[in-house]
Amino acid sequence: MAAHEAGELHAPGYGGVTAVPSWLRPPTDANELLPTLWPGTAARDLAGVLTVGGVDVATLAGRFGTPAFILDEVDFRGRALAFAEAFSGAFGGLAGAGVHYASKAFTCTGVARWIAEDGLGLDVCSAVELAIGLRGGVPAERITLHGNNKPDGEIRRALEAGIGRIAVDSLAEIDRVADIAGELGVRARVLLRITVGVEAHTHEYVSTAHEDQKFGLSLSGGVADEGIRRVLARPELELRGLHSHIGSQIFDTGGFEVAARRLLTLHARTAIERGYAMPEIDLGGGYGIAYTSAHDPLEPKTLADQMAELMVHECRALGIDVPRVTVEPGRAIAGPSTFTLYRVGTVKDVQLDSGATRRYVSVDGGMSDNIRTALYGADYSCTLASRASSAPAVLSRVVGRHCESGDVVVRDEFLPGDAGHGDLLAVPGTGAYCRSMASNYNQVPRPPVVSVRDRKARVLVRRETEEDLLALDEG
Ligand code: LLP
Repeated sequence: MAAHEAGELHAPGYGGVTAVPSWLRPPTDANELLPTLWPGTAARDLAGVLTVGGVDVATLAGRFGTPAFILDEVDFRGRALAFAEAFSGAFGGLAGAGVHYASKAFTCTGVARWIAEDGLGLDVCSAVELAIGLRGGVPAERITLHGNNKPDGEIRRALEAGIGRIAVDSLAEIDRVADIAGELGVRARVLLRITVGVEAHTHEYVSTAHEDQKFGLSLSGGVADEGIRRVLARPELELRGLHSHIGSQIFDTGGFEVAARRLLTLHARTAIERGYAMPEIDLGGGYGIAYTSAHDPLEPKTLADQMAELMVHECRALGIDVPRVTVEPGRAIAGPSTFTLYRVGTVKDVQLDSGATRRYVSVDGGMSDNIRTALYGADYSCTLASRASSAPAVLSRVVGRHCESGDVVVRDEFLPGDAGHGDLLAVPGTGAYCRSMASNYNQVPRPPVVSVRDRKARVLVRRETEEDLLALDEG
């Protein structure tokens, strides 16, 4: 089949624009790196090779192999600090604000060390996330333990470590935490996770009176009020405040506003009816990032200013002081800092029933290192990383090496038509929920996470080996 007869942008018979998703614009230059998608230090060198932190990807692939997660330390820490400064600035004249990085997005000891050094707090959801945070030097009092089903052993470990907050998720857990605190002779500082009836999506939110999901104590039916009553009745517990997390990959603050209003109404009612003013409130994470040119995330400063404005507005309406605010961004700190570096293998043009052709570009990873495309229908972008190319761009689908057709990494992207076997391909925005949700599907070892900074690269998490996997198998 002759390539690109149909013109600059399409393989022959591609079906024209109907095959291109409406948000995807044909590039004027397929080598361009859109700043919203790439880590801050990403660039192309004079030869056109993608570089980050001053190190080119050919060198990184040679040293660390592919696939690999490449993390720009300056970018990660810059975003973490930008959040910390924006929120402490916006809430400075009020009772202050804290930023807790959500470990679930991606954590390892190196990351926890940055969080500790840069003065942020941490959210953890398991004993090992907690252990990593402590190992990285994050003071226990700056850590919050989350989870809808925390094992007793984890609650115990957290309290023994002197954890800052436990976000209690159910009525039953109130007594469990209190009993364990009692046994240990400590007073547990708790937040109550409240289900505020706001389900946030990317560009919209819908309010539901009764949400059908597993987290938190519902505002409806008096469950949240009962939770407050029970916490206040247990001397082993100190009620620090209410918590809500309305969702993830959210681009506007409308959902947070509704959530804050509902939390603060309960907060104010507790002050009036029980004479107990909770000192803080935790509004969770969820700030969106750009995965494609269609996404336009807010800067941390804009976000923080809007959050402060809405808090002041809601508190004034209720006649209460603004409590100290905590937010828990994960994706917005880790996501854009990292890209996945793959090696291209087979390239195949597949004839579709419609007569159109789709180009499949296979890489050496896939759904084992990025499940988000298959699981959430997430869109990603990518670029030819090992060189610049002036070949006409072809709408391509980047797929992995796994044994199922849902193994798609990037559903639609224009790639130079000559991208082929041996080339390196980079997928940006993979710092959150990719390595942390990676699997060993098909017994594929999970990729390393390599951080780069000032022309130096170092391994944060090493590549799994065949021996690692075989060692789990008792034979
Ligand atoms: N705080 C709490 C209590 C959370 O449950 C979460 C995320 C966060 C903070 C951080 O949210 P972020 O700022 O990262 O959106 N695996 C999914 C995302 C699940 C998020 C779960 N909770 C994904 O890949 O999109």
